[in-house]
Amino acid sequence: MSLTKAVPYGRQHIKSVDINAVREVLTADFITQGPKVDEFERALADYCGAKYAVAVSSGTAALHLASLAAGLKKGDEAITTPITFLATSNAILYAGATPVFADIDYETINLDPSSIKRKITSKTKAVFPVDFAGLPAAMAEIATMAKRHRLMVIEDASHALGAEYRHGRVGSCKFSDMTIFSFHPVKHITTGEGGAITTNRRNLYEKLKALRSHGVRRSEKGREKIGGWYYEMQDLGFNYRITDFQCALGLAQLKRIDGFLQKRRKIVAKYDAAFSKLKNLKVPAQRREGQKHAYHLYLLRLQVKKTTQARKALYDTLKQSGILTQVHYIPVYQQPFYRRLFNGNLPHCPNAERYYDEVLSLPLFPDLKSTEQNRTIQVVEDFLSKWKLQ
Ligand SMILES: Cc1ncc(COP(=O)(O)O)c(C=O)c1O
Repeated sequence: MSLTKAVPYGRQHIKSVDINAVREVLTADFITQGPKVDEFERALADYCGAKYAVAVSSGTAALHLASLAAGLKKGDEAITTPITFLATSNAILYAGATPVFADIDYETINLDPSSIKRKITSKTKAVFPVDFAGLPAAMAEIATMAKRHRLMVIEDASHALGAEYRHGRVGSCKFSDMTIFSFHPVKHITTGEGGAITTNRRNLYEKLKALRSHGVRRSEKGREKIGGWYYEMQDLGFNYRITDFQCALGLAQLKRIDGFLQKRRKIVAKYDAAFSKLKNLKVPAQRREGQKHAYHLYLLRLQVKKTTQARKALYDTLKQSGILTQVHYIPVYQQPFYRRLFNGNLPHCPNAERYYDEVLSLPLFPDLKSTEQNRTIQVVEDFLSKWKLQ
């Protein structure tokens, strides 16, 4: 089967309303630094239940700016999970600080609070929990620990727009100082590339806004005294701006998020119904008391002998049937760059490593066709019945 016809594990959902929204902005006065950015930020903050949102050019940029706004610097440590996209811990390094990896809970695949606790030292300044696959992390426990040790909490909710935790949406920052999102095409809503930070703290909001655009702040006093052109660079910032046409796309998408989540939920229910009958599989941890999953990824976990060989064989078998799965993720500290960084003192997170060996992300996106999902299920079932006989 040709790769262009293959079913990916995730993809965007773009309709004519999205295209029209983008087209409208392309012929307007401002295609960047215009009103759509503010509008998108307001809509996102309202949706999450936060006071402020700052939209930026990617989830990675959001993490970088959050690390800087949190005051991370050389000599500091920040605790995060090894089961995340590289961007989470890379952002700690961008700020000059050292990432420290705590282990995950084998069931939820989110950071295990007791492992975080064991990693806290006098150098720890922040913790970066990830709401992995769309399931909120143990934010209440993390927030309590953070308060006790005066740590900043930066929640990476790239997978979790629309998830709920203790009667609030992820992004409301009830249990974090800042929460970040990614709007990459495989995520719940897309702006092409894009990201955002939500916060309830005005000082962080102002810092983030300035850092997004070269560290420049408006100075009303300076304008009055010197002239209307006056601007002031107070910190070393970046150009992490997002365009107005991207924000128009984000706005059009955000209006339909409930429908996207519903479709994802339906697909997950069908996978669960098929796979929970099979013995050699573990279906994803889904519901926890007081939480709503956002179903970014469907993580199938093989519980068979010779797991690593089985996972590779299943990946290849699905690929031959035109189904492109992915592995989320290789434990970050096993990457060659991180191996060199730790210079032989590699962290060891047994739950993360065990989880990594057994997992495969199956296709999960709003436009996944029923026939494509049926084919995926069938290939997995056939594979398992053959593998058992080996
Ligand atoms: C958990 C997590 N954090 C951060 C990012 C980075 O987001 P972006 O690709 O928008 O830079 C991603 C993207 O895949 C992610 O999955």
